[in-house]
Amino acid sequence: MELWLDGVEIDLIKKIDQMGILKGVTTNPTLLASENPMQIIDELLSIQKGPVAIQVLGDTKVEMIEQALFLNKISSRILPKIPVLPEGIMAMKELQEKNLDFLATAVISFRQAFLAFQAGVPCVAAYLGRFSDEGKDPSQLLEFMVKMKKNYGFKTRIMAAGIRSLDHLYKGTEFGIESATLPKTVFQQLLTTPDSVSLALQKFQSDWQESKNFLFERGESPMREGLASA
Ligand code: G3P
Repeated sequence: MELWLDGVEIDLIKKIDQMGILKGVTTNPTLLASENPMQIIDELLSIQKGPVAIQVLGDTKVEMIEQALFLNKISSRILPKIPVLPEGIMAMKELQEKNLDFLATAVISFRQAFLAFQAGVPCVAAYLGRFSDEGKDPSQLLEFMVKMKKNYGFKTRIMAAGIRSLDHLYKGTEFGIESATLPKTVFQQLLTTPDSVSLALQKFQSDWQESKNFLFERGESPMREGLASA
């Protein structure tokens, strides 16, 4: 599964990138809202090699296309995020004709998911948290989209977004979706070592210390010595 960080936390992005598990970064206007969003975008592009998804803010097809082309001029690694609305779908059609990749976003309903697949978008982001805010089980939205792919052969990749818990992430794996974007809180949960693991490693350490074995310290290897004398 492609793993994205949904946010602008520079240090966390660097850490995840060093682990080699970061596909890219997604943002939204709320996350990017600051005096100097361009500085943040530049930094997100410089600290990792993957795509950076930036949402357009236009209301009309023309505005959305203009903003998507503007973002693409800044860097071909910027993935414009286009909301799945009628004007957005019209903009997506023209961007596809221009061979410009984008992320269809803000899907919080079955009808938007249906429209996005019908439009044959490259990737669609479903906001699982906001879907569950409406008292609905996000699995239903994931299942609906996966069935659309299976029943009609759509190639659209599915991204789980607006994730609120590791449970949302694991639900995505149950359906075999292509990608997930995690906010800082959930990514930190993912990187947190379970207590049972810490306890196990501590026990290994103390057992090893008790054995007064200096294998790694001295670089001496009884086996190597054994082999040498064999
Ligand atoms: O990338 C989309 C995501 O940022 C939306 O998350 O939690 O604001 O629904 P949320």
